Amino acid sequence: MTSSMRSLLSDHSRYVESFRLFLENSTEHQCMLEFIEKKLPGIISSIGNGKSAINILSVGGGAGEIDLQILAKVQAKYPGAFIHNDVIEPSVEQITNYKERVAKTSNLENIKFTWHKETSLEYESRMKASGNMKMWSFIHMIQMLYYVKDISATIHFFHTLLEPGAKLLIILVSGTSSWSRLWKKYGPRLPLNDLCLYVSSTDVEEMLNVAGLKYQSYDLPSNMDITDCFTEGNEKGELMLDFLTETCHFSQTAPLDLKKELVEDLKNLYSENIGGRYFFNNTLSAIVVESSK
Ligand SMILES: C[S@@+](CC[C@H](N)C(=O)[O-])C[C@H]1O[C@@H](n2cnc3c(N)ncnc32)[C@H](O)[C@@H]1O
Repeated sequence: MTSSMRSLLSDHSRYVESFRLFLENSTEHQCMLEFIEKKLPGIISSIGNGKSAINILSVGGGAGEIDLQILAKVQAKYPGAFIHNDVIEPSVEQITNYKERVAKTSNLENIKFTWHKETSLEYESRMKASGNMKMWSFIHMIQMLYYVKDISATIHFFHTLLEPGAKLLIILVSGTSSWSRLWKKYGPRLPLNDLCLYVSSTDVEEMLNVAGLKYQSYDLPSNMDITDCFTEGNEKGELMLDFLTETCHFSQTAPLDLKKELVEDLKNLYSENIGGRYFFNNTLSAIVVESSK
């Protein structure tokens, strides 16, 4: 790895821009919405039993698109219940987008939103220092575990915050996805630092097994149209390459041999050619962890 390559997360604006493009070109949110529609009602069927208020914690909630869909399902399951929805999110831009989305959405009167502009680790430290651990009925970490320093410790900490009957939902790339194959081969040559860890559902399930936690996994088939990545100089393609490699300005900063090999693999090994367009396997896993209480 050359020293000029740096993690995409070191440039928050570019990260958010490339993430937005990824969402536009993939079925990432569609597959989550299908999961929320079909499976979530059953998963949350007992999280609010006997409670006057339901406490939901979103870790890395981003711009809130998925969070609001989850909240709609909780509202439908527990009509009239009061909901506290807290969001841990280190990006100011994402929090602003989230707030704008909430302002534009109707039927949120029974929900109190609180945003914490911090990382999950900062939240953990703040809670521990305060000596007053708030407990939660439902905690979700959707596509964010790549960005914590110690995944196992993070899962453990948030799992201890679950009330009896509560659930922790983790969504991340599946071990069967092209992400997993890409990262396994190229991770060591990309700017892997403490800003981004290349993990998949296989790694998380191993951690849960070691910790002896009870969970159930669901496959969420999804793809990403990466055709633009194969047109040299295409701005969208370059942003998508940044997102795929978690590298800021990958096209300009990667050594030529790495770029050539990786782009060829993206085209020939990690995607499917359908009618002249290239679809990267973006299958996700949803892992639902039970409270131990
Ligand atoms: C890929 S986005 C996912 C956003 C949202 N959950 C979704 O699926 O649309 C990852 C989010 O995690 C946030 N994030 C990054 N590092 C974090 C950390 N250490 N703790 C909490 N959130 C983090 C990012 O700012 C970003 O909004």
